[in-house]
Amino acid sequence: MYTTDFLDIPPLLGAGGTVRLPGSKSISNRVLLLAGLSEGTTVVHDLLASDDTRVMLDALRTLGCALDQTDDTVRITGLGGTLAVQNASLFLGNAGTAMRPLTAALALLSATQGGTFTLSGVPRMHERPIGDLVNALRPLGCHIECTGQEGYPPLRLAGGTLNLSAPIRVRGDVSSQFLTALLLALPLVSQPQALTIEVEGELISKPYIEITLNLLARFGIHVERHGWERFVIPQGSRYQSPGEIHVEADASSASYFIAAGALAGTRQPVRLEGVGAASIQGDIRFIEAARAMGAQINSGPNWLEVRRGSWPLTAVDMDCNHIPDAAMTLAVMALYAQGTTRLRNIASWRVKETDRIAAMATELRKLGASVVEGEDFIEVTPPAQWQHASIHTYDDHRMAMCFALAAFNPLAPMAVPGRPISVRIEDPRCVGKTFPDFFETLFQVAQTDPALIPVITIDGPTASGKGTLASTLATRLGYQFLDSGSLYRVTGLVVSQRGIDPDDHAAVTAVARQIGQEISLRFDGHKVWLDGLEVSEHLRQESAGQMASRISAIPTVRQALVDLQLNFRGLPGLVADGRDMGTVIFPDAGLKVFLTATVQERAERRYNQLISKGFSANLAEICADLEVRDLRDRTRAVSPLQPAQDARMLDNSALTSERSSETVLGWWVDGWPHVNVNAGTDVKPI
Ligand code: DC
Repeated sequence: MYTTDFLDIPPLLGAGGTVRLPGSKSISNRVLLLAGLSEGTTVVHDLLASDDTRVMLDALRTLGCALDQTDDTVRITGLGGTLAVQNASLFLGNAGTAMRPLTAALALLSATQGGTFTLSGVPRMHERPIGDLVNALRPLGCHIECTGQEGYPPLRLAGGTLNLSAPIRVRGDVSSQFLTALLLALPLVSQPQALTIEVEGELISKPYIEITLNLLARFGIHVERHGWERFVIPQGSRYQSPGEIHVEADASSASYFIAAGALAGTRQPVRLEGVGAASIQGDIRFIEAARAMGAQINSGPNWLEVRRGSWPLTAVDMDCNHIPDAAMTLAVMALYAQGTTRLRNIASWRVKETDRIAAMATELRKLGASVVEGEDFIEVTPPAQWQHASIHTYDDHRMAMCFALAAFNPLAPMAVPGRPISVRIEDPRCVGKTFPDFFETLFQVAQTDPALIPVITIDGPTASGKGTLASTLATRLGYQFLDSGSLYRVTGLVVSQRGIDPDDHAAVTAVARQIGQEISLRFDGHKVWLDGLEVSEHLRQESAGQMASRISAIPTVRQALVDLQLNFRGLPGLVADGRDMGTVIFPDAGLKVFLTATVQERAERRYNQLISKGFSANLAEICADLEVRDLRDRTRAVSPLQPAQDARMLDNSALTSERSSETVLGWWVDGWPHVNVNAGTDVKPI
């Protein structure tokens, strides 16, 4: 997950390849509860890892279910309708999908088997109404106390005497989750008689009730539905574990990748695995809307393949009431359509994570679009001229995910060739609500011209603090990181290990050519693996630095390592440190920094580093070594260590590493947007 303050997404030119999407939240929590109530063991695959599923798992564990989790698979041994714990206090965070059904289930269990349960959450949860559910359960004889404010959690469930002769009534016009809670829990007490639930008021969010009914059927409970007003749980219904069950991928999360395929899937489709057209989730009907705009979509039971169909996209006028969440994606697709797109009947956008109509209008206008907003509609006309924009995301995961699609702007019908625009997503971590790895997944399928990917270069002499500075910047910006010195060190290490004479240029060059090919090389943070063996410590030793310096003066060695270095230029950007990053390898870098510090200062830093790691060290020797190495690096014939003409100089002798990184980050932020004007003049979809 990106935890940076902002994420700059460079202009994107294509999309293709396979993605696996995270599991649906609605399905995950329903399945967990059903498995927890069933007899026997259920293996749940592809479970969503999120805050809301975590609290449900914790609650089930507290209630005595046996849980065994490995990655996204959890094995649950359920209660089989009998309480294993008579008293428990459950903390349910802000998960409505845990609070509502657990209230119903525990109220019924405590009324029939005794026991006392308290259910609470974060302060926001205590502002979310539950009165309609409490009012449906109390007439059945459940004792429920709202210990704070009447009609809101926290709740205390303490026994009662069940009487199921009266009809069970619940309101359906505030939230469908109350009906879902009753449907999920009432089979606990349907042995002696059939149970009828009557819905009062117009039932909202019917697709979510369909998910509930569908999953109940998977657990052996076949509810009879009479219109949307009456639901009958047949007598003798019992939860029967299906043994194994797969959680479908989230259909709302799928919408962003369906859109990416429709915009940019030209050479190769975007293939989504984990959800298909036969999905039980309401938002899957986004497919119809995307098709109406031009997407070409093929589907199977558990997959979708999307590519660009008609282009530019077709503007649509559409009632989106049935797909409120996924419809936000259409508003951004509208930037790529000919004409004005109108999305109607979306009043619910106003009461979601933020006022989504207002937020969408404000941010689309930043990009240059013309937007008309009404109480329950939005109209979007694509920009006549796209503008660089820093997108505010309002702590709303869907705003962040939608606006990532604006990065495909070079493909837009009205885009000016050679003027791709940069999209900044503020607070990208908000995607954690439903899709923590959204941006990583996007960068897996998105393609672009490497010249459009921004680079920051940090060059300088040994022990100047380049590595620390570069890796800090990479972390702060969410960029890739290249420690080019390590490639020379690795080459030198293999040369020493194989007993090759460092003056045998041909033999050393042959080794350099094998790095990353026959000799596998893997980086993970600051750790380095060479042919499967971790060599990080070996590489850090002074002798490895000296050897690297020696062999790096061989022109053919430098040449052999060029492609390997260029390959680090990946989405969404790169910070590269070394000696010739700004002069030779990435001459088009958006920011070049030349870092210096006095030789005494650098020697002391190196000395302290070695001592702290438990090595013995001698300051005078280190100082002498550094001078030898600097001289060699500066005076060699090819790619000598020197600042690029357009480099910014930073002497950090008297600066802390924090001050250095803040300074350079400030330069980078001031220089936004970083679009390489020499790149992308001849933009064609990849
Ligand atoms: O940055 P470092 O100390 O890990 O680099 C080790 C040696 O590799 C350095 O003395 C010179 C060489 N090098 C180079 O020639 N070009 C680079 N881009 C990086 C390192």
